Amino acid sequence: MTVKAPARNERVADAPVDRLFLDRWSPRAFSPEPIAGETLRTLFEAARWAPSCFNEQPWVFIYSGTEEDRLRILDVLTERNQVWAKNAPVLALLFARRTFRKTGRPNRWAAFDCGAAWMSLTVQARFLGLYTHAMAGYRRDRAYQAAGIPEEEYEVICAIAIGRYGDPEDLPGEIRASEFPKDRKPLAEVAVAGQWPEGRV
Ligand SMILES: Cc1cc2nc3c(=O)[nH]c(=O)nc-3n(C[C@H](O)[C@H](O)[C@H](O)COP(=O)(O)O)c2cc1C
Repeated sequence: MTVKAPARNERVADAPVDRLFLDRWSPRAFSPEPIAGETLRTLFEAARWAPSCFNEQPWVFIYSGTEEDRLRILDVLTERNQVWAKNAPVLALLFARRTFRKTGRPNRWAAFDCGAAWMSLTVQARFLGLYTHAMAGYRRDRAYQAAGIPEEEYEVICAIAIGRYGDPEDLPGEIRASEFPKDRKPLAEVAVAGQWPEGRV
């Protein structure tokens, strides 16, 4: 199977960072080439070591182990996401436990912790030459059904596509046009020394 080079990356950092941070982006051109089970384990292992409030580790990744699972998760996605995610060899749903196991109190930081776990998985994926793409475009009710997880205890956070880079030519025109690593706000806008500048909205 031929693997095309990912889209040209014209990102420029505002301060020196490891190249990996610029090379992580969310493509939609996935190759259907399967991902070995042991590689997947490595990705979820990276996620497992993410930090969390009170070390609660509220994340649960329900991922496709078979083609049947993959199609079940694909069906959870909005049609707009299905168009490209259908080629990803692995699809997952990320859930957060709503309460702390020890106290039963609501865990206000569960989504934050899940984000950390997802980013760890994503960075590990890039180390291995793989890509991920998080998705908010899914149907909530179907997510719980597909995963078989109790909604009372778990909040669905996002869907995730995982795989190698594919062929952007396979994407429909409109999607192909946005198949490039996106830029960011300037550093000075998101990290402010001292206090919020007066008059800034
Ligand atoms: C929580 C979350 C939800 C997202 N939902 C979608 C989605 O439903 N469909 C999609 O195509 N991209 C989705 N994205 C991808 C973002 O649009 C993308 O991360 C953002 O534009 C920055 O681009 P980059 O990841 O390539 O750097 C999502 C990303 C995150 C983190």
